[in-house]
Amino acid sequence: MFKRVAFQSYTSVTGNLARNAGCRRLASTKTLEETLREVIPPKQEQLKKLKAEHAQTVVGDVKVENIIGGMRGIKAMLWEASVLDPIEGIRFHGMSIPECREVLPPAPGGKEMTPESMLWLLMTGKVPTPQQSQQLSAELAEKGELPSFVEKLVDSFPKTLHPMTQLSMGVAALNHDSAFQAAYERGVKKTEYWAPTLEDCINLVAKLPSLAARIYRNVYYPDRPLVPIDRNLDLTGNYSNMLGFGNNENMTEYLRLYIALHGDHEGGNASAHTSHLVGSTLADPYLAYSAALNALAGPLHGLANQEVLRWQIAMQKEIGDTITHDNIKEYLWRTLKSGRVVPGYGHGVLRNPDPRFVALQDFCKTRPDLQASPTIQLVQQTAEVAPEVLKEHGKTKNPYPNVDAASGCVLYHYGLTEFKYYTVIFGVSRALGAVTQLVWARALGLPIERPKSYSMDALEKLIKN
Ligand SMILES: CC(C)(COP(=O)(O)OP(=O)(O)OC[C@H]1O[C@@H](n2cnc3c(N)ncnc32)[C@H](O)[C@@H]1OP(=O)(O)O)[C@@H](O)C(=O)NCCC(=O)NCCS
Repeated sequence: MFKRVAFQSYTSVTGNLARNAGCRRLASTKTLEETLREVIPPKQEQLKKLKAEHAQTVVGDVKVENIIGGMRGIKAMLWEASVLDPIEGIRFHGMSIPECREVLPPAPGGKEMTPESMLWLLMTGKVPTPQQSQQLSAELAEKGELPSFVEKLVDSFPKTLHPMTQLSMGVAALNHDSAFQAAYERGVKKTEYWAPTLEDCINLVAKLPSLAARIYRNVYYPDRPLVPIDRNLDLTGNYSNMLGFGNNENMTEYLRLYIALHGDHEGGNASAHTSHLVGSTLADPYLAYSAALNALAGPLHGLANQEVLRWQIAMQKEIGDTITHDNIKEYLWRTLKSGRVVPGYGHGVLRNPDPRFVALQDFCKTRPDLQASPTIQLVQQTAEVAPEVLKEHGKTKNPYPNVDAASGCVLYHYGLTEFKYYTVIFGVSRALGAVTQLVWARALGLPIERPKSYSMDALEKLIKN
């Protein structure tokens, strides 16, 4: 039996939604919208001051190598929710992953922080109370069902269409009911853009598990009936249940941790940046996040988690039962000499082992069944060997494991073996950071993004002059 969570009282995320949905809430518990209404004005003031007093302060140089090197290292975006330090890793409003695991409320009966708690932290910069987090869970369950035309659309896709393409198309179609688009057409004031954006963002986060689970069912288990949303479960409890893992509390806890800690990784990564770029045109959150999912579907970005598993299983087949550092080393060299990258290693910003990898390993270390898994053992041993091999290879600036080196192996162990689906779970997760930025970009009135580009001839002319 899957775990049932009892909520004593709950509310809608927005005051309006609460009234519409007829939800009850405790007077002492502030909603997400109410909390945002408090934290937005000081941030608006902070931005005003920055503009007035420091608009001309230089924060870095742009060299030709940055322009031809994928803009690596250029400090060029405002992103409030998290900052990535190359050595320390990610911090969410200043909080490290171990700190978040310590203080962000878990689901009732669970231990790991929930995506709801992380979303609250990202949006507001504050740690929610357990009650606030549970209210948000209830709100998301309330809003989790898909419109029937989206269900029909997704059901019409061929099974052979990549799950990420299906997710992106499903998310784009949700814009049919966009509150922001409707408000914009009504002529809502610019200062109020963020409220209907928040409404869309909460709807999007709420509907992602149903959409993602439907895709999983259609592609891999077409004869299995779909489980409806249980209003008493948290977001991940429902997602796990709909995927068919509701009776495995370890798997559900892993999904909570994975979705929460993978939710944001500052703004410059391809999917987050895409969401912000598209959102900056005032496209609604569904269109912005659908575009982000297309970036996430690239093998150098989100698709790496499916590639890691594919590579790891091929290694396991080749090495057999006797896993030694020597035969892992040999396999690593064979991968590199064939001109391929070692998936799950390296990073555009990080220069140390990824703390998200460390947290997932920590999860495995506390569970004997995971410790006994040959796949997980191989992941751990590869992490002991690969950095030295990659250093000797001498190309990558970061020879250490990133989150994707570990993310798929636990899913695999618990029976979610269809690794083409793994990036979809990443897509459910990464929405947390993307939607936070969409709300804040509107609250701060950030403009449309429009960096300057150069041709090589124009660059040469500039260099001469
Ligand atoms: C993440 C990644 C795309 C970052 O790319 P980047 O910022 O260009 O990384 P670097 O600056 O360190 O790359 C320098 C060189 O090292 C190579 N390199 C980087 N990571 C490598 C890896 N894991 N295996 C082998 N070579 C690697 C790059 O391909 C590049 O080679 P080139 O000069 O021939 O083009 C890259 O490390 C990678 O492809 N990793 C494997 C895929 C992966 O795990 N992605 C998930 C990221 S969270």
